[in-house]
Amino acid sequence: MHKNRMDQDVEYVMYTRRKILKRVRELGKELKNDYEGKNLLVVSTLKGSYMFLADLTRAMEFPFDVDFVSCSSYGSGTVSRELVFKKDLDCDITGRDVLIVEDIVDSGNTLKALKERLLSRNPNSVKLCSLLDKKARREVEINVDYIGFPCENEFVIGYGLDYNEKYRNLPYIGVLKREIYE
Ligand code: PRP
Repeated sequence: MHKNRMDQDVEYVMYTRRKILKRVRELGKELKNDYEGKNLLVVSTLKGSYMFLADLTRAMEFPFDVDFVSCSSYGSGTVSRELVFKKDLDCDITGRDVLIVEDIVDSGNTLKALKERLLSRNPNSVKLCSLLDKKARREVEINVDYIGFPCENEFVIGYGLDYNEKYRNLPYIGVLKREIYE
């Protein structure tokens, strides 16, 4: 494989582009089975999920809408987290089936808070789909309905995931060398 500058900062490739696309196609079929004929709204969380969203939605061969949120959760420990929207949904979700698409579930705080916020708007359902599930870092209990891959407790970059806003455009998921961030 031709190496570019970013590849040199990768300790090892956790999931290749080929492996990701295979799994994404499987998820697309599963989602078609579960959602075709429903009033589905896919909600993507910026920015990390953009590459997963682009591939996943093309693998979901049926009609649905897509919208975007940008949010962060603040607070720590047992204090309930406050979710702040930098960008909220454009549409009303009353009575709709909502699928949140994420790149990674880490502590779980962002998704838990986002799911609760969306549930308060009276949708028919809210489910979660995450490409990566980093269980070792979980701080709150949250059920991820559709999971691409488990993720070891490593600093992962690529396929949308960043370190200081860089590396999102790597086509695979890799582990960042320690010397880059330590
Ligand atoms: C990442 C990821 C999730 C969140 C998961 O976003 O996309 O939204 O962190 O972490 P949690 O489970 O600990 O809440 P990030 O804040 O890095 O922003 P980005 O997507 O713009 O890179």
